[in-house]
Amino acid sequence: MRTIAIANQKGGCGKTTTAINLSACLTLNNKKVLLIDLDPQSNASIGLDIKVEELEKSVYDIFSELNRKSLDDVVLGIDQDFDLAPSQLILSAVEQELAGKAGRESMLLRSVHRMHKDYDYVVVDCPPSLGLLTFNALRACSEVLIPIEMSVFSLQGVARLLESIEILKAEYGHEVKPKALATMCNERTLFAQEVLRDIKNHFGQDVYETIIHSTVRLKEAAGFGVPIHKYSKKCRGAADYMELAGEVVSEEKRMGKVKSPSVQLGPRQVKEGVVFSYYDPIAKSVQLVGDFSKWKPLEDLMVQEKENKIWKGIVTLKPGKYQYKFIVDGEWRIDPYNSEVLTSDIGVNNSTVEVS
Ligand SMILES: Nc1ncnc2c1ncn2[C@@H]1O[C@H](COP(=O)(O)OP(=O)(O)OP(=O)(O)O)[C@@H](O)[C@H]1O
Ligand SMILES: [Mg+2]
Repeated sequence: MRTIAIANQKGGCGKTTTAINLSACLTLNNKKVLLIDLDPQSNASIGLDIKVEELEKSVYDIFSELNRKSLDDVVLGIDQDFDLAPSQLILSAVEQELAGKAGRESMLLRSVHRMHKDYDYVVVDCPPSLGLLTFNALRACSEVLIPIEMSVFSLQGVARLLESIEILKAEYGHEVKPKALATMCNERTLFAQEVLRDIKNHFGQDVYETIIHSTVRLKEAAGFGVPIHKYSKKCRGAADYMELAGEVVSEEKRMGKVKSPSVQLGPRQVKEGVVFSYYDPIAKSVQLVGDFSKWKPLEDLMVQEKENKIWKGIVTLKPGKYQYKFIVDGEWRIDPYNSEVLTSDIGVNNSTVEVS
């Protein structure tokens, strides 16, 4: 089971939007997901159409001294393979109620360990502060995804979050792997490129290749209480989060974890050539382009397999190293299931494949 906290004490940088849509897109990759709303504002719960004021129990109850509940007790089913541990405003009382109590920073960790239901992913949406709740999330998770909004001052405060991670390591021997995600990006403006460069300077390799673009559809979807792919399948936000989920799933390979469909994805050399594949169950069209096609789409090459919805195409290539991309519903995308990426002279990322 992978545990991912979505944290950044900066408000409004896309934590909740990422928590909801990454979770939903992971379920489209056949993963079982639990989303824990650890923010008293309850935006993740409200964004999934939960009437939080009517709930009899919520994630607060796993911290409660009086009538403590297990995570299994409080989760709600949102969709197939998608559960939510909802939040309520009362969660804001936890910090005061537990002041001075031993083990208070490990309560979420204990609840996650005691959970009976099996999940492939636990995603935790954190509040915009570095208090006890965020600390509980970092303590319970082995990864932290840090959404960074592409604006001035966007990196401000990130150092303090990274400090908390260091404290966890020093005091508890607990390692949390940070990885940044650029959010609310406005096209390829020079400014966006600069912020992206700053993020890369700060985080080195630990930045998701996927970029979440700015689109009002994401705001609208949350207003309607559904993940983006249920609101507008064809918009850029849906494709961006689908790409992010693909990238997250593809990390499993490097971590030496888990099963399909990721293992069949990524470029694969066979006798007839190289099999290129792309998984996006909601895409209407997927085309392959690369330096081997002079960056022109190879029409009718990629065909979607009915049983698993994976788009596949074989290209015969001579030995050498090639760059390529997919055009998914008109948008140019790297191969999220291939970690070999090369940044071209003009700052564009392309996937690469080596043919022997
Ligand atoms: N890619 C995007 N494009 C446009 N609007 C977005 C995008 N991502 C998020 N938003 C909008 O920006 C606002 C803040 O996003 P969100 O709630 O996800 O941030 P947050 O980090 O969880 O905020 P908080 O710190 O308050 O918890 C919301 O109105 C959301 O709909
Ligand atoms: Mg939020």
